[in-house]
Amino acid sequence: MIKQIADPGLADEGEAAYRWAYNNMPTLSKTIEKSISRKPLTGRKIGVCLHVTKETSVLIMGLKSWGADVYLCAANPLSTQDHIAAYLESQGVKVFAWRGETPEEYNECILNILKVGPSILMDDGSDAHVAAHDNSQHSATIIGGTEETTTGVIRIRALEEAGNIKYPVIAVNNALTKFLFDNRYGTGQSTFDGILRATSLLIAGKRVVVCGYGWVGKGIAQRARGLGALVTVTEVDPFKGLEARFDGFEAMPIADAASRGDIFITATGMKGVIRKEHISAMKSGAILANAGHFDVEIDVTALENIMVRKSTVRSNLELYELPNKNLYLVGSGRIANLVAAEGHPPEVMSLSFSNQILSALYVAENEGKLEKRVHDVPKEIDQQVAVTALEAQGIRIDSPTQAQLDYAKSWQL
Ligand SMILES: NC(=O)c1ccc[n+]([C@@H]2O[C@H](COP(=O)([O-])OP(=O)(O)OC[C@H]3O[C@@H](n4cnc5c(N)ncnc54)[C@H](O)[C@@H]3O)[C@@H](O)[C@H]2O)c1
Repeated sequence: MIKQIADPGLADEGEAAYRWAYNNMPTLSKTIEKSISRKPLTGRKIGVCLHVTKETSVLIMGLKSWGADVYLCAANPLSTQDHIAAYLESQGVKVFAWRGETPEEYNECILNILKVGPSILMDDGSDAHVAAHDNSQHSATIIGGTEETTTGVIRIRALEEAGNIKYPVIAVNNALTKFLFDNRYGTGQSTFDGILRATSLLIAGKRVVVCGYGWVGKGIAQRARGLGALVTVTEVDPFKGLEARFDGFEAMPIADAASRGDIFITATGMKGVIRKEHISAMKSGAILANAGHFDVEIDVTALENIMVRKSTVRSNLELYELPNKNLYLVGSGRIANLVAAEGHPPEVMSLSFSNQILSALYVAENEGKLEKRVHDVPKEIDQQVAVTALEAQGIRIDSPTQAQLDYAKSWQL
């Protein structure tokens, strides 16, 4: 039996962090409070594979307050906040997560939550969904699941397209109240939080190369500009390349950007975006960071193969001495905002996790009725999250008049 958490003695510190997050997640707390009296998840075992952060603790405590038994593991070997794991364990959640799991331990933690026979499986990146699909015993009890991120939705859709999907999965990532805010504003800010904590350098005046101009890349490029960087975007999609240019950024191939950048940030969900030939062209002193879900975007193996020596400069910052230059890698090339900082701010996760908890409830309330495929978050849930978020912030907007509603449906002026 492997260990379960790093240090139970950190529970008080974890509780303080939980309370701070709770107080800054009004949409989620209002969503939880609305259904707390009827405990709608009573008797449900929920397996959760998410980054173990203070924001996740608010979601987990919400699931518990709705009556669920919760089993938690991490969605990345380096993203667990050990004080949060300790706090949740002290509250009766079965936690299998600590910062610095080996790949074997990481997989074993996932198997531990599958072995309890969850009825609902929440995931971020689909490692747990894929593990559940690898063994029919592990998927036998699952009535449905949810998936938090772009890369995870791509993987679970691939399972669906291969005809192998074994239960319905709600693509939480694809809710408007998720990707427009979490992927863009959450990752935009928290990636710089990670890079700044790791390097403590000035961004103004530096050339920041952002690889990928999807929702995450857009957020990072905007924040880089806001901090005074010169921003270059690399893309493979002609629409996104054009959009980046019209948004006022330089767009060019990575082969051209490689020799110009001071800081490189990958945000594509694709592997091998920064490869050996690009690393070879980089200036001495360049910093590399990844914001995509998996550590496959920067070819760290190529970096390891060319280097002469490697050393730790600061927490989450490695120096790679190459024959003719020095390069720096943030957070081992893993998701920088979670490894070198604390992940997304609570206000953003408040929206994402409102979609998570309402999607889990939707799965429970529609047991046996949903087709085994990837489903979008129902529009009503997405809309409800947006309305609750506006209310929580005291923001009022207009409603269309009846005449406007009629006009929108008519061909007559
Ligand atoms: N760090 C976080 O907290 C966080 C949060 C949300 C999403 N993510 C992850 O970030 C990644 C991107 O998510 P997204 O929502 O922006 O996805 P997206 O699909 O909106 O954007 C990805 C973009 O990358 C581009 N791309 C693909 N291959 C490329 C290449 N070789 N070079 C340059 N561009 C390329 C695509 O054309 C696309 O525009 C995913 O792995 C996702 O799971 C991370």
